[in-house]
Order: sequence, then C-alpha cells, then structure tokens
Amino acid sequence: MQVKSVPTKPVEGQKPGTSGLRKKTRQFMQPGYLENFVQAIWNAIGGVSGKTLVLGGDGRFFNDRAAQIILRMAAASGAARVIVGQGALLSTPAASNLIRQRGADGGIILSASHNPGGADADFGVKYNTANGGPAPESVTAAIHEASERLDHYLTLEAPDIDLSRPRTTGLGAMAVEVVDPVTDYATLMEKLFDFNAIRALLQGGYQLRFDAMHAVTGPYAVEILERRLGAAPGSVINATPLPDFGQGHPDPNPVWAKPLYDAIFGPDAPDFAAASDGDGDRNMILGRGIYVGPSDSLAVLAANAHLCPGYAGGVRGVARSMPTSRAVDRVAAARGWSCFATPTGWKFFGNLLDAGMITLCGEESFGTGSDHVREKDGLWAVLMWLNILAATRQSVAGLLAAHWAEFGRSWYSRHDYEAVDAAAAEALIADLRAALPDLPGQQAGALTVSEAAEFAYTDPVDGSRAERQGLEIGFVGGARTVLRLSGTGTEGATLRVYLESHEASPTGTDTQAALAPVIAAVEALAGIRARTGRDAPDVIT
Ligand code: G1P
Ligand code: ZN
Repeated sequence: MQVKSVPTKPVEGQKPGTSGLRKKTRQFMQPGYLENFVQAIWNAIGGVSGKTLVLGGDGRFFNDRAAQIILRMAAASGAARVIVGQGALLSTPAASNLIRQRGADGGIILSASHNPGGADADFGVKYNTANGGPAPESVTAAIHEASERLDHYLTLEAPDIDLSRPRTTGLGAMAVEVVDPVTDYATLMEKLFDFNAIRALLQGGYQLRFDAMHAVTGPYAVEILERRLGAAPGSVINATPLPDFGQGHPDPNPVWAKPLYDAIFGPDAPDFAAASDGDGDRNMILGRGIYVGPSDSLAVLAANAHLCPGYAGGVRGVARSMPTSRAVDRVAAARGWSCFATPTGWKFFGNLLDAGMITLCGEESFGTGSDHVREKDGLWAVLMWLNILAATRQSVAGLLAAHWAEFGRSWYSRHDYEAVDAAAAEALIADLRAALPDLPGQQAGALTVSEAAEFAYTDPVDGSRAERQGLEIGFVGGARTVLRLSGTGTEGATLRVYLESHEASPTGTDTQAALAPVIAAVEALAGIRARTGRDAPDVIT
C-alpha cells in the first residue's frame, strides 16, 4: 500500500472550541477539510509514529466515512495501532476509558455532542490526550497553529477496513483492533456501583425509563440497564443509534427530551427516568413528578457518593464550572472538602482529576463525572443515582427534599439566545465588560450589584491561565448572574445567561418565578432584548 502526500493549503477557522472542532457536516465533507484538521492534530502532537490511538464516534452522519479517512491517515503517518469501536462507535466516556485502560497515547472522538446530526446538521472532531481527557488549551492552541501552516497531508492508498465485527486486522503496517464498544465500559461500571442493590430495586417493581435519543448510548444502556441490571425489556427507549438521531436534537434537557420530561409528570410516570446526549457524556435525571437540575444533581451525588462502592473511601474534593450553581459548594463546605470553580468545558477538570485533588465534578450543562474517566459520563450519572436510590430506598423527590432541607436550595436556570447576530452578541459582551468596574453599588431592577468581574482561571496544577471566561455579576443577598458566549455553536453567536439565587428554607416550586428579580436585573444591566432583537430566550433549562 502506497503512502500518498497530498498538497494542501490551510483552511480558515480550524480552531478547536470548548469541545474540539465543530462545524457543519458539509464543511467537514469538503475534500481535504477533515484531512487537514487530522494532519494538524498529528503535527501538533509530534506525529503518531509508533503510537497507539483510540478511535470512535457517536454514529452521526459521516461518522463511518470519517473513521476510514482517519484510519488511513494514522497508518500513513506510522501509527502502530488504532483501537476502534465496532461500527466506528464509541461513546465519549467509553473512549476516555479505553484510552486509559489500554494505555493509549491518545484518541480521536467523532462527535458534535448534543448538536443534531445529518448532512445538513453538525459534525465534530475532538482529540483526547493520554489521560483520556479532552486536549488542554496548550494542545488545542498547537493544533490551531499547525492548521495554519499546513502544506500537505499523508494518507494511504487503501480500501476501507471492515469495522462491522470485533477482530484485529492490518492496514499497511498498522494494526487495526476492532473492539466491542460496550464491554470494557460496562465492566468499569460494575466496579463502581452496587449492581446487586440496583438489581434488587428494579426487581421490586421499580420502574425505570432511559431515553437514548437514537444516539450512541442505546447499546450501552440496553446492555447495562436491561441485560445486566434486569430492567424490563423496553425500559430503554429510542435505543437504536441513527445517523440523524431520528431527526431529533439529542440533547437531554426539558426542551429537547420533552416527551420523557412530560411523561415523568404524567399519570403513568415511571419512578425514575433519564436521558443522555449524542455522544453519551451528558445526562438528565428525572423522578416521578420532579426534574433534577444538573447543578442539584452534582450536589446530591457528592453528598451521597459514599453509598456507592467505588466512592466508599470518600470524596477528596469537588469542582464545578464557574457558571454552575453553588449547590455543590455548600456540600463541600459542610464536609470539609475543597471545591474548585473552573472555566466552562470539561478539559479544565483534567489536571485536578489527574492530581487527585477532586473526585467528582460537573457542569450545569447536564454534565457530571468523576475520576473514573476524564470525560463527563451520562450513564455513570444514571447508575450513581440508581445506586443511591437503591441504598436509601428514597424516591427522587424525597432525596431532593431532604437535600434542600439540609443545604438550602439554589434556584438556578440558564437562558440561551441562539444564532444571534455575532456582532451584536460580541458588542453586548464588550460593552458589559467595559461597564463592570462601575457596577458595584448600582441598582438593577430590585437588586443591587455587590460585585462584578470577568472570570479568569489559573490552573492550580500547572499554573496555566485562561482569561475572559465569562462576566460574573453578584447581587446583595447572594444572587448572581453570569453572561458568556458559547464556544460550541455553529451558527452566529449563542448568548448564555446563567441565573442563580439561594434560599435557606425553600418554598415554592417555580424556578423562573423564584429567579424573576435576577432575570429583571440582567435585562436592566445588559439590555438583551434591545440588542438581540429577541423577546425571550430560545432555550430555558
Ligand atoms: C457547552 C456547555 C459546556 C460544555 C460544552 C461541551 O459549551 O455550556 O458546559 O462543556 O458545551 O459539552 P458552550 O457552548 O457553552 O461553550
Ligand atoms: Zn456530549
């Protein structure tokens, strides 16, 4: 088989964002576009000669083609071995686990996470390092630089490899090891959680529904929840991964997983329901008649982690992204754990996890995880909830009520304004940034600003610095808001507004009503309506 050097020119904008390079699928399918980015990765990491890589994706449109292109490029550049999920499938947490279990040098994950899939939707490529986690800023910056200096890429003139069944085969001198995507991951879950207790709970008539949203977690959830834990057949719905996710938006939140959300408040509600996203790293947790916000979920998991075998030794510390609610901070304070606030994006947890400074971490964007892998992990969160519910024999609503009674309640919501004119969104942020120093003491609706600053982060492990990570405004009485622009959107700009207040003895159930003063204060300070021309957010979570 011949190695071919293909002359190429850099393409604009191959700059990895919050979570790899995410673009329209058609852009990725342009001749040379994916190849350029993959070659830039190889160049940025000092080549792949002699290395072992993990490869897989969430099964979205172009996943299979992209995997073949990457295999040929890895072989052409001298990689020793690529471990690839059967059918080129691997959930993001399973890929992270494989990299770690097999001591691989890194991995490529093909996914645009929760963004829709299809020829006219989104595609993405993410590089993970040897610790199993998303490449840190230093590496993503090097990839971007390499992409700007590219003049050729290497590929192999070879036919496609059959990825339809587990086996090891060769591509040139490189070994291609096709593995079952579920097995190693399921084994890890069995080590962390009390499967016997969960099985006993489910056998006692406890009803569970898991919505895989036609995305990658289908096969994982069927194997773990139905086969290994004995949930009734059919408990996993939308279990078959489809290239366009059944035309859906595989994002597990009350808006995009509305049928599941509605079911939990309906007459035949199951006891427990959950959903995961396109690549399996996000989760939404629901209990009969109740929605568990992701920030609360992190706090409840932390407070009860000791009930799970994998965490019986205790929690070393916790971390949350800065815009995530401070519910987990209160648990940490009560238990004497350290608690870190990091910029948005899972990569910022990597060093803290590697250094053993934290055990659990999470983001308000339906992401929770621990030191078992270096990605957030949707099914892991579902199993941890089930383990805690089995150990306490409480309902989800009962567990939350007890949590709020002990720690108070952090009212929390995120308002997203999507596909906003990019210039208008950037001007809104720039003007508010300029105004920050004058805000303290200022009246905003019924609230008074107590502090205002742009969040920057110094990594406590390697001292690296991340600037401009969101505008954070606090109000007298403890409420706060954060405004930032999304780093994962593919159209215009997405403005995210995070809202939080705290009540020691909570009453009421309406989150938006509880946050009304904060919402009004943000509008007074930032003028979102006038500047974006929008009357209301597109998505409220
Ligand atoms: C979003 C979330 C962020 C998450 C990322 C990847 O990024 O807000 O918490 O880590 O997706 O799943 P954003 O679009 O806000 O940059
Ligand atoms: Zn995801």
